[in-house]
Amino acid sequence: MKLLIINGVNLNMLGIREKEIYGANSYRDLCEYINTTAEQENLKVDIFCSNYEGEIVEKIQKAYRKYAGIIINPGAYSHYSIAILDALRAVDIPAIEVHLSDVKKRESYRQVLVTSEACFLTIMGKGFAGYKEAIIAMKKKLGEENENISKKDR
Ligand code: DQA
Repeated sequence: MKLLIINGVNLNMLGIREKEIYGANSYRDLCEYINTTAEQENLKVDIFCSNYEGEIVEKIQKAYRKYAGIIINPGAYSHYSIAILDALRAVDIPAIEVHLSDVKKRESYRQVLVTSEACFLTIMGKGFAGYKEAIIAMKKKLGEENENISKKDR
């Protein structure tokens, strides 16, 4: 069971960008945090980061039949990318959206979360810990799905 973690536009600037909002830890720190959490939860993860919408769409398309779940922080794309929303819907892989900051308490243009419409859960305002919560929630969801499949076999 392998998860795909996608970090979108400007997430590579963590530790440099708006530290009062996103904290002082770097993107590399975030990747280490995700990898450590995944190990603790006995899950395999691949982490992908891109500033390009099309690359994110392609990565999601290629996830079809390859990954059991997707955890995505699209960055600003969350607020307007119908292309990423469509890609998530197309592959129909359980997905969770994560935001480091609490976007609901921020500017009006951040109030619409387009891509999260394809996600069964959206976590925001918890910093790095939001990724841990997402990994644990995804593990639970996939465990329940497997249980349902094996029940059908009985
Ligand atoms: C973000 C929130 C977005 O509104 C913003 O554009 C980002 C980061 C977050 O993780 O809090 O780039 O996705």
